[in-house]
Amino acid sequence: MSKGKIRIAVFPVAGRGTRFFPVTKVSPKEMLPIVDKPLIQYAVEEAIAAGAKKLIFITGNSQDVLKSHFENNLELEKALIQSGKESLLSLVKEIIPSDIKCVYINQKKPLGLGHAVLCAQEAVGNEPFFVHLADDLISGDVPCLVQMRSHFEMHKVSIVGVEHIDLSESEKYGIVGTEKNNGVLQVTKIIEKPLPKDAPSNLAVVGRYILKPEIFSKLAKTSKGVGNEIQLTDGISSLIQEQPVHALPFDGIRYDCGSKLGYLRATIEYGIKHPDVGSRLSEYIQRLK
Ligand code: G1P
Repeated sequence: MSKGKIRIAVFPVAGRGTRFFPVTKVSPKEMLPIVDKPLIQYAVEEAIAAGAKKLIFITGNSQDVLKSHFENNLELEKALIQSGKESLLSLVKEIIPSDIKCVYINQKKPLGLGHAVLCAQEAVGNEPFFVHLADDLISGDVPCLVQMRSHFEMHKVSIVGVEHIDLSESEKYGIVGTEKNNGVLQVTKIIEKPLPKDAPSNLAVVGRYILKPEIFSKLAKTSKGVGNEIQLTDGISSLIQEQPVHALPFDGIRYDCGSKLGYLRATIEYGIKHPDVGSRLSEYIQRLK
């Protein structure tokens, strides 16, 4: 392993996406487009920007479509060349740069996020790694995982990306209790989806993590929690008994693309910034008002 660098990113993509039925009945929610790219492509681009070289996808029924999206399609490329549409080639070719390795692991049963991460143990080995939940789309000048990697390079501890939420929404998130220690937030408590009255704060974990490999032995011993699933939050709760874990509030805007409203907000805001359609979309929205 190159010293201190994080080379591996894990993408749990086996969720059923029930909040988007029927569109996600067949197509995984990570393939939902924001303008012209699926959510998982934004996720992969963010991880690669942060230095990931090996991408591990923990898949359910989604494996084939995800794999096909990222693999080269020689037939399609040939057809584009033959019909003189070379300009489109770069959009479908090398979505993932050639020095990046992809691994697909099937999570046979939907046993939860903690179990999904545990499925990556062998492929990760004994290194720190990113975990990225693609339905939390985050825009900003510096990609969220890049901000977290910089923090990791300084402190060498596991990190959860957090943001302040309205306490009434605590049942949607892992919520942390923290203590300020030399200017950084050390996690003292982490609870999965607590009632507002039981939440240790209004700081919620969003779908970005840097985890040290010791998390695996914790997850292996974690029993089912909220929703009768093995929760990553509960694994992290055991980890903080042994080593520091930091919470990092990041700069950027998060869109909860696992919800219809968050997804539509992201579509509109990314649409307005898109070079092909941005100005016409803005005009259109002005006219609707
Ligand atoms: C998962 C995690 C939760 C975290 C959230 C972020 O929940 O279990 O701790 O706060 O992602 O989006 P899910 O949204 O899969 O229910």
